[in-house]
Amino acid sequence: MQNKGFALVDSASLVPTNDPSVLFTTAGVQPLVPYIKGEKHPLGNKITNIQKCIRTQDIDEIGDKTHDTFFEMIGYWYLGAESAQEFGAIKRAGVQTSYELYFTDKGFNFDINKAYITCFSGNDLVPKDEETASYWMELGIPKERILFLPGNWWSTGEIGPCGPDSEIFYNVSNEDLGDLTLEQFEQADANQKLVEVGNTVFMLHNKTAQGLENLAQQNVDFGGGLERVVMASQGVDCVFDTDLFSPVYTYLKEHAKNQDVRALRIVSDHLRTSVLILSEQVAPSNTAQGYVLRRLIRRLYRFADVLGLSVDNVKEATTKIFEIYESVYNLTSAKDFIQTELIKEIEKFQKTLSSGMKNFEKMIAGEFSSKDIFNLYTTYGFPLELTYELLDEKKISYNKDEINKEIEQHKQASKTASAGMFKGGLAGNSEIETKYHTATHILHTVLRNMFGTTVEQKGSNINTERMRFDFSFTRALTPEEVKEVEDKVNEIISQDLPVTRYDTTYDEAKKMNAIGLFTDKYSDKVSVYQIGSPTDAFSTEICMGPHVTHTGTLGHFTVAKEESSSAGVRRIKGVLEI
Ligand code: SER
Repeated sequence: MQNKGFALVDSASLVPTNDPSVLFTTAGVQPLVPYIKGEKHPLGNKITNIQKCIRTQDIDEIGDKTHDTFFEMIGYWYLGAESAQEFGAIKRAGVQTSYELYFTDKGFNFDINKAYITCFSGNDLVPKDEETASYWMELGIPKERILFLPGNWWSTGEIGPCGPDSEIFYNVSNEDLGDLTLEQFEQADANQKLVEVGNTVFMLHNKTAQGLENLAQQNVDFGGGLERVVMASQGVDCVFDTDLFSPVYTYLKEHAKNQDVRALRIVSDHLRTSVLILSEQVAPSNTAQGYVLRRLIRRLYRFADVLGLSVDNVKEATTKIFEIYESVYNLTSAKDFIQTELIKEIEKFQKTLSSGMKNFEKMIAGEFSSKDIFNLYTTYGFPLELTYELLDEKKISYNKDEINKEIEQHKQASKTASAGMFKGGLAGNSEIETKYHTATHILHTVLRNMFGTTVEQKGSNINTERMRFDFSFTRALTPEEVKEVEDKVNEIISQDLPVTRYDTTYDEAKKMNAIGLFTDKYSDKVSVYQIGSPTDAFSTEICMGPHVTHTGTLGHFTVAKEESSSAGVRRIKGVLEI
């Protein structure tokens, strides 16, 4: 791609650094969203990357031939067309580039006779994409191999940049499928004879709470899953048979006491994903990324148990994953942490699993209610998702709505703030986390006002239940000082000050006396968030946000703990009651 003038950007981390709306990077385009919306990328308007991604919404589909929770996405972008003519040009160029990449010897050299192309069939707002189809036909794709589908639309999330897309499907079966009707195509896709190996999104729109608007610029966003590309290249019809999985899969298979293929795939997949999450120093916990990790580890261990694998086998299997990813993602120094946390979590779960299984068996032996299902969780700590999965496997029906009601009642009763835990930490966390972001800025300034500007932020961490703020200070705060911190933060909250964002340059930010780290190596552009009026601001800080628009929405702030973090660094854990 570089010889075609694309600038290579490094993979961003799996845990997005400045986007609390998602727990993990789910697509190559995600770290580039600001540049899709109009910011200028410092490396120009043709970018390429290979981005590590995690998607756990498909977790129940793991076990088939083509789904995996971790994958690497090959991507390239044409950014910033500002006229219809410019957009037409990059649209044509985008199709041409994916053609070269997939179907010529400059790239993967896939057999064009096994390819099927899909384009957007149109709706009330956006027309049928005949234009893209015509570019494919110019390149020699027969008309009969181009299908128009209503689902050819891709979006970065519930809200955000989106647009019609054009997908490349590849026949990975041994059959010659020939031309297909729409119905036959859908059938072959469902049977995993056809696999989507590439997707070009025409990023034209931005979805907001109010509806669809046009983006300030048009872009072409291409992504293709490396695992599936490797699968097609290696002539296999299953990702677990590729070089990327076979070392770990084969190891597990050799040590398993039975050959349950689905279980082998689930353990291989979840172990690889867990290793890569752990490699970013995320530990299992009850919230956010840590909760997803906990769920993956529990699930992989449950299936390892089905296969009769020991904890040592699982530990040894991680070395097969290290062999593949060690040099790509610098895993060497993280290996100890990865294995220690993994085994610690498995050992914690072992007891719950064996006693939970016994109670589960006892429960299903007789009549049981939604409350009994819920009690397995509250009384024995047996994860609800595991109960659901076991019931599904045994084809026993249950009433999720009723169980959700139990959860609600339990939450009310215990007044727990652990909403994220019940939601699986998968969504809906952004609003409360946004509040904590703003509270962090207030706390930072309150501390500097009380103790001077030698107080500097040394770390910050936010989840749905609390904020944690580390700052340079050499002694413990007295109880009176803690009370004063709380009062001052609450005073700013009660003044309901406006929070304003400025998009500016580093130099301007410095002139505004903004506090923050001046270390971003790529872009000169920064966002500054100011709390209070511009002429008499309470706080001015460089930050990617997001923040609330008024401090009055933050609720009541209390310091849950003040403690030492390390030499010369104190740590405050703060809680908002909203
Ligand atoms: N964003 C699109 C996808 O993830 C193409 O890069 O499929």
